[in-house]
Amino acid sequence: MVSIEGVVKVYGDAGGYQALNGISFAIPDGQFAAIMGPSGCGKSTLLNILGLMDQPTRGAYVLDGSPVQDLSDAERTHVRRDKLGFVFQAFNLLPRMTALQNVCLPMGYAGLGRVERRERAKELLKRVGLAGKEHRTPLELSGGERQRVGIARALANRPKLLLADEPTGNLDSKTSVEILTLFRELHKEGMTLLLVTHDPAIAAQADRILRIKDGSVVADEKPARPS
Ligand SMILES: Nc1ncnc2c1ncn2[C@@H]1O[C@H](COP(=O)(O)OP(=O)(O)O)[C@@H](O)[C@H]1O
Ligand SMILES: [Mg+2]
Repeated sequence: MVSIEGVVKVYGDAGGYQALNGISFAIPDGQFAAIMGPSGCGKSTLLNILGLMDQPTRGAYVLDGSPVQDLSDAERTHVRRDKLGFVFQAFNLLPRMTALQNVCLPMGYAGLGRVERRERAKELLKRVGLAGKEHRTPLELSGGERQRVGIARALANRPKLLLADEPTGNLDSKTSVEILTLFRELHKEGMTLLLVTHDPAIAAQADRILRIKDGSVVADEKPARPS
């Protein structure tokens, strides 16, 4: 699903800060991979590149069989919309819109009609456990519920790859477990998942843990599972 080779990211002009020092790995279809590492090691930089929200300074990126490192902005936007879903730590919902409207938004960009958008958004909100709360705004929802909306929105255009940057970072541990359960269900249904987390309990549920330090992958391991 994802293959990157020698990805380097330098912020600023030449001689600027090198946040990624040549990262290479491949994520097969259907894998659930966790990315861990200390604050500032480059996790978000990496995820933003994988999510086509930022471009590497050097390196190759093949997404779902197609090289994407040299696409124009417009092409990147299309690929992002058609293939990727992104879940944020701070939820990033539009505060004046209802849960339903937030989930409908990406489908509007994809050109779906109003009726189909609303139907699919309703289904997705039901899928994440928010049936009956479609018309609430983010302020009328708990943190965990807001993140459920964030996940439903990320799923709106039926992505092949779901990227999440510390999706439980703003949630208490009980709510984090509920959100993790949702990710695990999506994984079981075949979704490829790449999740940045600080929480060892969450990473332990992944198929694989990539550990990053100072802009490099320092370990690529299978989590130990309690038997
Ligand atoms: N837009 C930016 N401009 C300059 N430096 C940045 C920018 N974004 C991140 N950095 C720097 O790159 C490094 C990696 O950041 P980041 O990827 O956000 O780390 P993490 O998500 O692992 O905490 C940090 O030192 C950070 O200060
Ligand atoms: Mg980060």
